[in-house]
Amino acid sequence: MISWTRKSLLTIEELKPDEISLILDTADSIKSISDKTDPIFSSLKGKRIINLFMEPSTRTRVAFEVAAKSLGADIISITGEASSLTKGETLKDTAMNVQALGADAIIIRHSSPGSPLFLSKMVEVPIINAGDGAHEHPSQALLDIYTLREKLGDLKNKKITILGDILFSRVARSNLWGLTKLGAKVTLAGPTTLVPADFKLLGATVTHDTQTALKDADAVMLLRIQHERQSASHFPSLSEYANVFGLGPLSLEWMKEKAIILHPGPLNRGVEIDSALADSSRSVILEQVSNGIAVRMAIMHLCISKCLDKPL
Ligand code: CP
Repeated sequence: MISWTRKSLLTIEELKPDEISLILDTADSIKSISDKTDPIFSSLKGKRIINLFMEPSTRTRVAFEVAAKSLGADIISITGEASSLTKGETLKDTAMNVQALGADAIIIRHSSPGSPLFLSKMVEVPIINAGDGAHEHPSQALLDIYTLREKLGDLKNKKITILGDILFSRVARSNLWGLTKLGAKVTLAGPTTLVPADFKLLGATVTHDTQTALKDADAVMLLRIQHERQSASHFPSLSEYANVFGLGPLSLEWMKEKAIILHPGPLNRGVEIDSALADSSRSVILEQVSNGIAVRMAIMHLCISKCLDKPL
């Protein structure tokens, strides 16, 4: 059995396939115990975790809070506008002060790619990346992959299409690394301006034709347009984007009958996904969100409890 040796979770790129599987299997154990009984997990009892969110978040921040509390930890969330970063304090000083206040781990979301790696060199405690710019969003990809594995079984040779704004998406990058490591075939699709051909070098198939992207896929993951990272428009208008690249009722005719629909959220209904499709029986979007708790419990248990064999 593989042992977990990492203190921090910074990227999916650096993980070995067995490490990804270990996180997913740990999440599976957590979920099955949670489903059957009224569990009391305690592997992080007495630990103090700081959730440092320098960008807005609903799902990730709350899921980490719920996950930490479910493992018996205390967790304190700090948002960018409520921190002394607004008074000129550096990220390094913020992290060192948080460590001096007794943090046993720091979860960080920041607009700068590489900021979790930077912090991991500045402080002693585990760092968990909750999204760094357009670089990576490891816990999101792990919950996406967990949900895909739950729905499709072994992901080897399964065809997964990610459709939308790939260029500015940390979710796309983390999923591409994780899915290809587990043997899935990943197609990246969307406008030429948002899906550079360079992604082929990372093992993806790239297409700018929506029908081609959808027709063989076992699962389709939609991504919103990440306006917050764009300084110019990459297509003529939102309605034209929706007509060509949005998943609408007509797209179902191109999709396999059993293909499932994922979205990391937040959704922009009527743009990348038709509202009725987002709520349809093919959609596993809210299951992704719920699975995010067990997956983040697994990540924190492995990184922070520092003992694989420690009971949950
Ligand atoms: N998927 C995701 O990261 O959502 P939040 O921005 O709400 O955390």
